[in-house]
Amino acid sequence: MKILLVAGARPNFMKISPIYRESLKHETVDCRIVHTGQHYDYEMSQAFFEDLELPEPHFFLYAGSGSHAVQTGKIMVAFEELCEAEKPDLVIVVGDVNSTLACSVVAKKLLVKVAHVEAGLRSFDLSMPEEINRMVTDTLSDYLFVTEESAIKNLIREGKQKDKIHFVGNVMIDNLFYQAKKLENNDGNKFSTLKVKNENKDYVFLTLHRPSNVDCKETFDEIVSALNDIAEERPILFPVHPRTKKMMDRFKIRLSENTVLLPPLGFMESLFLWKDSSLVMTDSGGLQEETTAMGVPCVTLRENTERPITIEMGTNNLGGTKRTSILKAYRKCVDKKVMKYKVPPKWDGKAAERIWKIILE
Ligand code: UD1
Repeated sequence: MKILLVAGARPNFMKISPIYRESLKHETVDCRIVHTGQHYDYEMSQAFFEDLELPEPHFFLYAGSGSHAVQTGKIMVAFEELCEAEKPDLVIVVGDVNSTLACSVVAKKLLVKVAHVEAGLRSFDLSMPEEINRMVTDTLSDYLFVTEESAIKNLIREGKQKDKIHFVGNVMIDNLFYQAKKLENNDGNKFSTLKVKNENKDYVFLTLHRPSNVDCKETFDEIVSALNDIAEERPILFPVHPRTKKMMDRFKIRLSENTVLLPPLGFMESLFLWKDSSLVMTDSGGLQEETTAMGVPCVTLRENTERPITIEMGTNNLGGTKRTSILKAYRKCVDKKVMKYKVPPKWDGKAAERIWKIILE
């Protein structure tokens, strides 16, 4: 069985890692990694392949950056050629980035089966490019592998066939548990941020990269004004995404001196910092889930989330993007002495195992 496993952007790499590792246990499976090249800087791509024990991608498509149409189009052209040459039996796509959409459309039009890992999540906010990517990919997919109950409801409401939907758990958490175990034997000496970690106790770990937050000056200013207030109370460690760096320069954003700016970090180094933080503040999808699985309080800098289980059961709090709402959520998190949370069902490190069992059946 020939399978192409597609990844393109940073959050995809954590998701394909356990799927690839698990594929090696099945002799009848020939699983090859396709890297579309959506992310290409060392820190955004290769550093993750190294951390996550992924081999060099079997195919690299050199898509690079561009507008949505340009980027998606380039990936589609290159992936179509690859599929024509390789004739896969199945294409597996993960998450909700432009590479996910591009490759699922190409595969389906070539009558190749598509499996979508992390199907059914919905923010109901069509101003997010990811929401469009999710909806299109789910419409085309033959296997809909879901991470939480809300995703099943969304897919059924949209009329998807029940027998295509499989509640397998969360491959992101498979990877998290695997990497966290490795970190137990790591004293951090190899990490350039060890000194920063030791010097800053009781810190906030921040990530921020969504276009809706950083591409609009008014929203970015509003978020920064809350962050600068928070930095008066505790230091903020902030690895800066390339998009955010570009917009900070363009808008001349001024952050408090108590904010430590860091380059984009590899998976392990990032985990090394946030697992011991007092609080994570983020607009990433993955960190909402990972903090929930590790019991670290999280304020999500968005008006909505496609991952409601992290709020219902986990440690996540919606902070919105306004100064007052962010500070309110922050206060709620830090004042809560004992936080009650549960790890959601099937977030147990075995999602990839379940996925392969279903595919091979
Ligand atoms: C993409 C995903 C988003 C995901 C994020 C994680 C889409 C629509 N968006 O957003 O869902 O949360 O990745 O990082 O697929 N750049 C570099 N080096 C790189 C990659 C990008 O400098 O290796 C810069 C370029 O200026 C580029 C910009 O970042 O134009 C944005 O990159 P892009 O992949 O288009 O979107 P992200 O914001 O990274």
